[in-house]
Amino acid sequence: MKVIIGSDHGGYELKLEIIDHLKNKGYEVVDVGCDSNASCDYPVYAKKVTDKITADEDKSSLGILVCGTGIGMSMAANKVEGIRAALCHDTFSAQATREHNNANILCMGARVVGPGLAMMIVDTFLETPFSNDERHIRRISMYS
Ligand code: RB5
Repeated sequence: MKVIIGSDHGGYELKLEIIDHLKNKGYEVVDVGCDSNASCDYPVYAKKVTDKITADEDKSSLGILVCGTGIGMSMAANKVEGIRAALCHDTFSAQATREHNNANILCMGARVVGPGLAMMIVDTFLETPFSNDERHIRRISMYS
């Protein structure tokens, strides 16, 4: 599976750790930036990730966005049609949002979670399939 990842300066260090973690697990990872700790604007990187997720023809790619809180990234990403970005700081939410909401982007705040929990959230999100239950498909179609 291809994972598209982006961050602002607040999420930069955690993003590097996530990329290492995912590459060690054999994932193909595309990093759209940012490329340093220098202050930058999170909506720029949210858009770079959403552009790639919406352009993915077979819809198999998943995205990860990291900023200080994860909140700005999730707000920016969810403005884009076809994007279902979920802000998750626990594994239960990461599992539930894949099963119920078919979320295609995971947002996290590097100032909220430590790297150990972040990796468990990432693994849960990427490894949990959408349930394909009729009720969830119906509910998603009501807003997306
Ligand atoms: C940057 O200071 C911070 O505002 C950003 O990383 C994020 O938390 C926005 O929601």
